[in-house]
Amino acid sequence: MNGFSLPDFRLDGKVAVVTGGTGVLGSVMVRALAASGARVAVLGRRAEMAEHLAAEVRAAGGEALATPADVLDTAGLEAVRATLLARWERIDLLVNAAGGHEPGAVLTPQQTFVDLDMGAMRRVMDLNFFGTFLPTQVFAAPMAARSAGSIVNISSMAASQAVTRVAGYSAAKAAIDNLTRWLAVTVARQHGPGLRVNAIAPGFFVAEQNRALLLDGDGNLTERGEAIIRNTPMERFGEPDELLGALLWLLSDASRFVTGAVVPVDGGFSVFSGV
Ligand SMILES: NC(=O)c1ccc[n+]([C@@H]2O[C@H](COP(=O)([O-])OP(=O)(O)OC[C@H]3O[C@@H](n4cnc5c(N)ncnc54)[C@H](OP(=O)(O)O)[C@@H]3O)[C@@H](O)[C@H]2O)c1
Repeated sequence: MNGFSLPDFRLDGKVAVVTGGTGVLGSVMVRALAASGARVAVLGRRAEMAEHLAAEVRAAGGEALATPADVLDTAGLEAVRATLLARWERIDLLVNAAGGHEPGAVLTPQQTFVDLDMGAMRRVMDLNFFGTFLPTQVFAAPMAARSAGSIVNISSMAASQAVTRVAGYSAAKAAIDNLTRWLAVTVARQHGPGLRVNAIAPGFFVAEQNRALLLDGDGNLTERGEAIIRNTPMERFGEPDELLGALLWLLSDASRFVTGAVVPVDGGFSVFSGV
């Protein structure tokens, strides 16, 4: 048939870096990227976890490398970049999935905003915002040089709406949304249409960094977990692999005219008024 080509979601031969690759959501992303043909660098601070996952991917016939690093350590990130360029000669894709909550930057029911701890506020901003900004500077430099690549940031529902209690995390994720739009415009104008920047805004998925907020010690919903389910039209948390459709779309040529988008994957949370 003439007049159109079907979208191509494959990532064969591409080199991908997944920060937060050792986490609950990131590890599923690593496996999916490898299954789609990409060579994947698993980046997180836990070296053993990264190595274990990379070995699992290789055992399944994929290509992956453990690249332990802290997303706030420029020298460590540059060392990972050098390793990847020496081994695979290119970097095509970046998923910025490192992030999470910081207890002191979450209001307890007894606190008001004046009680928020500045140290914790700065740490949560550092991890979520600068922990996206710095890896982008480091790993997207080779993409900019080749005018080709795709970056996907992991935002949150807390970026666009006021989710109670999580002050610092929400501000940091809102900054990621803005960075996504700003960088999309800037790199398209300076480096051409082959370099794209988008984000996924997940709804609520049970992971290490938020388990205590959503579930009690027996695995039952906390009061907050219940409020989330009540405000999610699909009436459940997400499963990590439910992020993969959006992720593979945004990383691949299937989205080649899409940049600056923040895509919700949230069971309807962001469009529900609660009424
Ligand atoms: N779960 C949800 O409902 C949800 C919703 C919206 C957005 N998100 C976002 O999704 C992303 C993944 O989170 P998750 O839910 O999968 O939580 P998770 O299982 O706790 O994973 C967090 C990841 O971040 C990494 N990380 C934390 N600090 C780091 C640092 N300084 N340097 C390098 N890596 C660091 C951790 O790796 P190491 O410990 O090995 O360093 C881990 O891989 C986060 O950005 C989170 O904010 C999650």
